[in-house]
Amino acid sequence: MAIILGIESSCDDTSAAIIRDGVICSNVVANQTVHEQYGGVVPELASRAHQQNIIPVVHQALKKANIAKEDLSAIAFTRGPGLLGSLLVGTSFAKGFSTALDIPLIDVNHLQAHVLAHFIKEDSDDVSQPKFPFICLLVSGGNSQIIYVESFNKMKIIGQTIDDAAGEAFDKCAKVMGLPYPGGPYVDKLAKLGDKDKFQFNKPRIADYDYSFSGLKTSFLYFLRDELKNDADFIEKNKEDLSASLQKTIIDILMDKLRKAAIDYDINEIAVAGGVSANSGLRESFLNHAQKYGWNIHIPKFEYTTDNAAMVAIAGYHKFLENDFCDKSVVPYARATI
Ligand code: KG4
Repeated sequence: MAIILGIESSCDDTSAAIIRDGVICSNVVANQTVHEQYGGVVPELASRAHQQNIIPVVHQALKKANIAKEDLSAIAFTRGPGLLGSLLVGTSFAKGFSTALDIPLIDVNHLQAHVLAHFIKEDSDDVSQPKFPFICLLVSGGNSQIIYVESFNKMKIIGQTIDDAAGEAFDKCAKVMGLPYPGGPYVDKLAKLGDKDKFQFNKPRIADYDYSFSGLKTSFLYFLRDELKNDADFIEKNKEDLSASLQKTIIDILMDKLRKAAIDYDINEIAVAGGVSANSGLRESFLNHAQKYGWNIHIPKFEYTTDNAAMVAIAGYHKFLENDFCDKSVVPYARATI
């Protein structure tokens, strides 16, 4: 039996989770509300909050799973990419705890963990996991990538954003409309009440499977600036239609490239991961594609889409099975690819 403690501290969520033989036992996340007033994550405050949260969060994860720390087989932690100060808290804790318990330490790439979240089992009979090879669209506040996944430890990025991530496009446009941070969920909510064909925004022309979202942000900003000259209440009067049209544009951009990749690679096993996969319009588009193109789609449970330690623990579990451990001298990395 393998019992893995996962630790995630790459950005502004402190999380700890327990996975036993691939099955989730607990997943505790402490969100940091301190950043809301600044309209974005403040790295120094994030590190300090991780420092305060890490021990109570790990304690709670063990308690919820009804596991004693002596029962742990290994500790997996997010090594990067992320904010260095935040990563240092999780990394240092994992090193110290694994040394004290004299159990192996496993470093996990945060991006790979998002992809491998699809392998978290709710119970031992759960067989809903994607089959290799599959394609995963990873869309979050920091990433927009199309990933070709061959196995648990072999994946390659076949397309990615050349500027902003999809989540950033949601958040920055939401900010222009005066919505709170992060704006993605607010746009999603308003979009349900709006006409998605009311306004048209330009889509980028980028080669292959790559994305670009900075042009959309600029055209949205200029469009509103011009309309506000004629009507100071333009945003207030149109926020539902603006949200619906913006959301449709972002989803179209994402799905056009994903469809192209699925056709070119001749794969119909398609997954989505990352915070933006919570978006109801994107989920609907996945369902439509499943019907129209015969895709087997994999959409994670909401709690496994945003940053969480369950995905770190499952990634760690599959490295554990391969005896793929790291040295105690390991250091975190702020930047990394898959
Ligand atoms: O994966 P994640 O939790 O962490 C980061 O990489 O930062 O993703 C957060 C991103 C934010 O940009 C947020 O606005 C976006 O995911 N997001 C959404 C929705 N829920 C979260 N975007 C659109 N619609 C949503 N429902």
